[in-house]
Amino acid sequence: MSADILVLLTDREGNQHQVTAPTDMQMNLMEVFKAHGLPVEGTCGGMALCASCQCYIESDHPLPIPSDEEEAMLSEAFYVKQNSRLSCQILITPELEGLQVSLAPEA
Ligand code: FES
Repeated sequence: MSADILVLLTDREGNQHQVTAPTDMQMNLMEVFKAHGLPVEGTCGGMALCASCQCYIESDHPLPIPSDEEEAMLSEAFYVKQNSRLSCQILITPELEGLQVSLAPEA
């Protein structure tokens, strides 16, 4: 059984990237962005402390509820929309097959 899922990433120029993401490596979405060369800074290393990994969730996949830390960080970030999430807080799991996500503008 394949442990990879397909994720559709849209960069800040509107270009789409179809990438595979492993579900068995404890990777989060921010790391997947970085692994595919997308310009996500991830300054805090995935601690929900910088918002440089903000993205917009474009599909209606069931995602884990944001933690208080994520909510707090998003409440201070720029360009936040209804579907904003910190990509470092989204763990790659099989349920996210086909997830569509776009990068928030650089703050
Ligand atoms: Fe800093 Fe996600 S990498 S909040």
